[in-house]
This record gives sequence, structure tokens and C-alpha cells, in this order.
Amino acid sequence: MRELSHHVLDLLENALAAGATLVTLRIEEDTQRDLLAIEVQDDGRGMDADMQKRAVDPFFTTRTTRHVGLGLPLLKAAAERCEGGLVLDSAVGKGTRVRAWFAWEHIDRAPLGDMIGTLLGALLTSRSDWEMVFEHRVDGDTFGLDTRELREALGDVPLSHPAVRQWLEEYLQQGYAELYAKQRA
Ligand SMILES: Nc1ncnc2c1ncn2[C@@H]1O[C@H](COP(=O)(O)OP(=O)(O)OP(=O)(O)O)[C@@H](O)[C@H]1O
Ligand SMILES: [Mg+2]
Repeated sequence: MRELSHHVLDLLENALAAGATLVTLRIEEDTQRDLLAIEVQDDGRGMDADMQKRAVDPFFTTRTTRHVGLGLPLLKAAAERCEGGLVLDSAVGKGTRVRAWFAWEHIDRAPLGDMIGTLLGALLTSRSDWEMVFEHRVDGDTFGLDTRELREALGDVPLSHPAVRQWLEEYLQQGYAELYAKQRA
């Protein structure tokens, strides 16, 4: 995939498909350590050991009836091409944590891409019965949001309300502008 944000979207979609009600997305960029890490943790249905193996290696099973997902194998391959990797921690009934990391400077590392569009898309999905904690750290500076806090402030007004949507977009744009301005400074 040309942008890491597409992988982020896939991880968020996987978490929601697993019935998660709380999803934590952490992105960490540490140029000193030459690291870019993406981590998504959820409280969804989880996977047993066999499913975990199959999830990262679509050819692990010889069964052909089963739908073969490619999201996780593609992310793993992309990370491994960039001196990184992917780990999957999961427990049935408890949830799942996926962490992928890349050498920040690696020539083959795709750019993060449109994180604002990805976050907005995820936040404004038709499913409104889940919460997201998002944190993006760049060399020690952090930007993020917690939909639980937003909902508390909004009361009955949904995140998809046009005025809220507008506010969210501006909040994300400003947050990202400040985060990367500090890095360039
Ligand atoms: N967070 C998660 N919680 C529970 N199961 C998961 C999670 N993430 C992935 N899985 C399981 O692993 C499978 C593979 O995920 P993957 O993203 O690679 O493919 P997919 O979502 O099925 O299809 P796609 O290619 O559209 O992403 C999923 O179908 C699901 O069964
Ligand atoms: Mg998927």
C-alpha cells in the first residue's frame, strides 16, 4: 500500500469487525531511534493461537474455502522490508494488540499519508457504540484525542453532527500542523 494510513484503517476496521468497544491507536515516531511504530489495541473477541498464525500468514492453511484476508500479511511484509516487524498479541474474549514497526528512514517505508482522513473516516463510521483513544507521538511531542472525553462534552450531540465533524477536522488539522511544525523546528 502506498500509505501507512491505509494499514491503520485496516487495523481499525479489524478491531471494529471483532466487536471492539474500546480501540486504542498509538503512532510513535522517534527519529533518534529511527523508529516508526503503529499499534492498535482492542477489546474485541480476540483470536486463538491457530487463528493468530493464520491471520499473519494467509498460506498457513491449505483450506481453500476460507476467506483469505490480506491486511495483516501485507502490513507484516511492508514492515519487514523496512527492518521492522509485526507482532500480534491476542486472547479469546479479551482482545487483540497489533504492533508494526518500521525503520523511519528506510527508503522503502511508505509515508503515513492521510491520517486526518483516516481518523475522520473511522470516527464517523455508522457504528457509534465504540470509543477510540488516539495518540500520535513525534520525538517526544504528543497529539491525540479520546472520544470518551468528546462525548462527555457533547452530551447527546453525535460525532457525526456537521458542526462536530467540522470541529473535529479542524482540531485534527491544527494538532497535526503543530506536531510536525515542532519536528521541523
Ligand atoms: N483485531 C482483531 N480481532 C480479532 N480478529 C482479528 C483482528 N484482526 C484480524 N483478525 C482476524 O484475522 C483475519 C485476517 O485479518 P486481515 O486484516 O488480514 O484480513 P481481513 O480483515 O479478513 O480482510 P482484508 O484483506 O479486507 O483486511 C480477520 O479476518 C479476522 O478473523
Ligand atoms: Mg482487515
